[in-house]
Amino acid sequence: MNQIQFNNYFAIKNINGDFYLFDMSEYILKKDDNDLMSSFSQSMKDNGFCIIQGFVDKTVIKSKLSKIAQNFSRKNDVRRTGVTKLMRPNFQRLDIGDYAQINARFSRMITQFTWNKDSDFYDEIQDLIKFRNSFLKLEPQNFVYTINGKEYCDLPKFLQYPIGGGFMNRHIDDRGEEFKAPNFLLNLSKQGEDFDSNGVYYVDKNQKLLDLEPILDVGDLYAHDTETPHGVQSIDADKELDIETLCGRFSINLSLEPFIR
Ligand SMILES: [Fe+2]
Repeated sequence: MNQIQFNNYFAIKNINGDFYLFDMSEYILKKDDNDLMSSFSQSMKDNGFCIIQGFVDKTVIKSKLSKIAQNFSRKNDVRRTGVTKLMRPNFQRLDIGDYAQINARFSRMITQFTWNKDSDFYDEIQDLIKFRNSFLKLEPQNFVYTINGKEYCDLPKFLQYPIGGGFMNRHIDDRGEEFKAPNFLLNLSKQGEDFDSNGVYYVDKNQKLLDLEPILDVGDLYAHDTETPHGVQSIDADKELDIETLCGRFSINLSLEPFIR
C-alpha cells in the first residue's frame, strides 16, 4: 500500500520510498461546486493541475466501455498513422517504443475525432471540449481553432495502458508551441478494480511525486498545464502481458494539435 487517506490528506509514498503528507483539498473540485470555473482556473494557475470529481456519470462510462470491449479486435491495430489530418476516419493504434513519438510509451489509442459522430465517447468529449473551450475562451469554426494566426484541431482519443506493462515515461506536454493549451483527461478506470498496481502521477511544484490513482474515480476529469511533469508507471508490470483484450488503465485524452488538411 502506497498511500493512506485521512480526510483530504494523503500520506503518499514518494518514488524514493519516503512518506509525505499531501493536502488535496485545493486540487480536488466537484462538478456541482459553486463557481467551478473560477476555482478550476485558480488551481491551474497556482498548481498547474486540477481534478474535478464526477464530471461524467460513472454508469454511462461503464456501459460505453463494455460496448467498446465487445467490438474490440486486436486485428484493427495499426502501427503508423502519420500526421494529424482534418476529417480523417478514426483509427486504432498500438504504440510500443519511442519511434516517431516525443515520449516513450506502451499504449493503445482509439481516436474519437469530433467530426465522426459515431465516435464511442462523442457526447462526453463534447462536454470536455465545452469546458476546456470555456476555460481557454476558444471557439472553433468547422473543427478548426485559429490561435495567434496558427491552426489547430482537437485530438480526442481513448487511451489504454494494457495489463503487463502499459506505461508512458515522465514528460511535459510542451512541444514549443506558442499557444500552450493544458491537456484535459477523463478517467475511465479504477485502480483495484480494472488493474492493481501503478498508474498516472503528477510531479508538483515542490518536485513531489503525486500518485493520482488512489484519488481518481471513473468519470473524474483531470487536467494539467504544459509545465507539469507527468507519466504513467507500468500497469501491473508483474502480470502476463495482454494486448488481445481491452484491459488495464483507460482514459480519454483531449489535446489541441497542429494538422494538415
Ligand atoms: Fe502528456
